[in-house]
Amino acid sequence: MLLSSIYRPLHYCLVSDVLKILIRYKKDSADRLFDWDRHGKEIMKTQKQIGLAIIGSGRIGTLRAKLAKMHPSVGYIAVSDVNPEAAEKLAKTVGADFWSVDSNEVMTRPEVNAIDIATPEHEHTKPLLAALELGFPVLVEKPIALLESDADLVLKRAQQLNSDLHIGYSRRYKNRYLIAKEQIVQGRLGTITGACARLYNSRSQCFAMLKRNKGATPVVDALTYYVDLMGWLMANNPVTEVFAKGQKGIIHAAGYDTEDVTWAILTCKDGAVVNLGVSYALPEKWPSVGHSARVELLGTHGTLLINDDHTDQIMQTELGFPHVYLSDHKIETVFLESSTPGDWALGDFLGPIADETRAWLDYVSTGKPCNLAKPEDARRTLAVTLAIEESARTGKTIYLK
Ligand SMILES: NC(=O)c1ccc[n+]([C@@H]2O[C@H](COP(=O)([O-])OP(=O)(O)OC[C@H]3O[C@@H](n4cnc5c(N)ncnc54)[C@H](O)[C@@H]3O)[C@@H](O)[C@H]2O)c1
Repeated sequence: MLLSSIYRPLHYCLVSDVLKILIRYKKDSADRLFDWDRHGKEIMKTQKQIGLAIIGSGRIGTLRAKLAKMHPSVGYIAVSDVNPEAAEKLAKTVGADFWSVDSNEVMTRPEVNAIDIATPEHEHTKPLLAALELGFPVLVEKPIALLESDADLVLKRAQQLNSDLHIGYSRRYKNRYLIAKEQIVQGRLGTITGACARLYNSRSQCFAMLKRNKGATPVVDALTYYVDLMGWLMANNPVTEVFAKGQKGIIHAAGYDTEDVTWAILTCKDGAVVNLGVSYALPEKWPSVGHSARVELLGTHGTLLINDDHTDQIMQTELGFPHVYLSDHKIETVFLESSTPGDWALGDFLGPIADETRAWLDYVSTGKPCNLAKPEDARRTLAVTLAIEESARTGKTIYLK
């Protein structure tokens, strides 16, 4: 009895002190944001509130908007789409502050200070050029364009304006590839002398891409991620020569002038050889709901093999598993975590697009560097993918400057 009357005030005192410390810590972390420089030194950042305009309210625009809504720095969202129903639907879904069919009206809202262009591949150029003129940070979905002439226009204007433009090649934000990049940066592979990557997906996703645009082929629209990935992993060693072969089959029979399988050999500036392959003609109900990939890196001092097929996570369900990307597609056997953008889990979105979106918003808000592709990278990646298609078509080796 006596002891408890002595200890009670002491106990309350400790609790109130801990609470005070917690409140002070919370206030500090709201006022200040810490980051680390390249040498591991802690530096202080200020946090900017983001007003985000999203142009294109389709699948990826919707995902970016949902992720932006969850980001603590985003205080305002405006969305647009040429299709008013799509824009209004997205605005309602995320509780956007403004929507319109006019992308300029959305981008020039006084609250807006960052822009995401999530239109289809062949519709990037016009809104992207308009966005660059406003001088805000811009994120555009991959590929930068489908035509080299469009990509040149964007690159030239971005260079003239010293624009803050990034391109979303989300493989750069898949953990296994980020960790591979770290091994290369640490020099554990030595000089990379060769590499390979092959990418498989079901024909259902191929038809969805080609329906959007006949130029959005498996090479230009999907293998592009691995061309970018190799360019990022093997930095400062650009592809100079491309030779490729392809074979037509089921996709051609469905009315598209596109190969079922394409294999390419790329030669880099220092002579390193890279084998890239893609097939988006796997059976409609193939268990992957996105990329099935393998990536292998061969260096003078190390070898790194990445199994990205997701065959280690198999689920069978008689009730059908939904596809993040194809709303009417259901499969009974699924490789979990094979969805290219990522997966919903307990109300959160996990995976490459989630991490990439957060990284770009963190960058816009605090200046913390991000790993997204720059316009020069994206321009080169487009050139390599178009060269693969040209080589497969003509049987000739294509040389890149
Ligand atoms: N990083 C990834 O994982 C990933 C995955 C899929 C797609 N993408 C890329 O995202 C982009 C969009 O693909 P999606 O699947 O969302 O396409 P989508 O067809 O689902 O959506 C595009 C939307 O843009 C609208 N639109 C078309 N032209 C427009 C314009 N000029 N202005 C405003 N809106 C316009 C369309 O009406 C449509 O609603 C493409 O570049 C694609 O390659 C990236």
